[in-house]
Amino acid sequence: MSLRAGMIGGGWITRVHAPAIDAADGVDLVAVCDIELDRAQALAGPRGGRAYTSWEEMYEREELDVVWVCTPPLHHRAPTLAALEGGIHVYLEKPIARTVGDAEAIVAAAAAAPGTVCAVGYQWHATELLADVRRALEGQRAGMLVGRNFGPVSGRPWFMDRAQGGGQLLERGSHHIDLQRAIAGDIAAVQATAASVRLAQADGPRGNIEDAITLVFHFASGALGCVHTAWSRDGQPELYAVDILAADATIALELGPERFRITGRAGGRDLAAEYGEPMHRSIARFLEAVRGGDPGAVPCTPRDALGTLRVALACERALESGTVVSVP
Ligand SMILES: NC(=O)c1ccc[n+]([C@@H]2O[C@H](COP(=O)([O-])OP(=O)(O)OC[C@H]3O[C@@H](n4cnc5c(N)ncnc54)[C@H](O)[C@@H]3O)[C@@H](O)[C@H]2O)c1
Repeated sequence: MSLRAGMIGGGWITRVHAPAIDAADGVDLVAVCDIELDRAQALAGPRGGRAYTSWEEMYEREELDVVWVCTPPLHHRAPTLAALEGGIHVYLEKPIARTVGDAEAIVAAAAAAPGTVCAVGYQWHATELLADVRRALEGQRAGMLVGRNFGPVSGRPWFMDRAQGGGQLLERGSHHIDLQRAIAGDIAAVQATAASVRLAQADGPRGNIEDAITLVFHFASGALGCVHTAWSRDGQPELYAVDILAADATIALELGPERFRITGRAGGRDLAAEYGEPMHRSIARFLEAVRGGDPGAVPCTPRDALGTLRVALACERALESGTVVSVP
């Protein structure tokens, strides 16, 4: 029998999720909730589903097996906790939350619902590319990781307000923090700096976030990582990449928008492989975990994502203070 899926939040990211759910086997999107009814209707209507403006009402009226929580980060906690308490499996968009308090509550709720799956949507974490990087690095330690993430992005109001969304640091930077942690382990301390030149915000609406940021990670292993993110104007090309260096490895990851591939050389072997689109893989692995009744089988658990949030928030403090900040 098909799983009955609901979705909360009908904004930018659900234009990626809804078609990916349509393409997945054995799951039907039967209900969508957004505080703006037309957004919920636009997603639910064509699929023969019902539209809601209250997720509480949606939970009450629908018998959902799974739910996608795709609201802005400040609004992740309540619908996620209620779903987990009600035995509904959750695909929670990243970052896990805006605050450590909310994230800890989600981790605790997931722990208190041992049969209920909760995946956090860092989709790069879900691809076979990560497994191949780990294999390529077997027997050696990464020494340096360099992430680059440039391009236009939709200027949603919550994203442009640091207090609500954390700007590029939580939105784009946290994808790289998550991936670099998955490759090189815990991050002990961070530094962060930003340009005063505006790129996307040179003209048009301005928020209180930076357009160009560099984060530096000091890994517990002794490795050094960094990520450069830049929010550029509409029409500029997108670039998502990570380079990884070890004593016997020089690895380049291309992470979209069109191609997902690994190239380079490690352990005397040339690397060259291409991978499928990560969001589809992330959703497929979430559904596999649901069907297998195994919350530990998701690529990124709430506890993993809490670790990533702690690093991102340390970067935020480093950006404000200009100092090296330890990760708690
Ligand atoms: N995985 C990725 O690569 C990726 C990319 C973009 C965004 N995201 C994440 O997805 C989430 C949503 O981002 P977005 O870009 O779609 O934002 P968005 O602003 O485009 O959409 C959010 C939607 O949620 C609705 N909403 C807000 N509060 C609500 C509530 N209490 N109940 C129901 N609906 C509510 C808003 O009306 C809006 O339509 C964020 O956590 C963001 O970080 C992930």
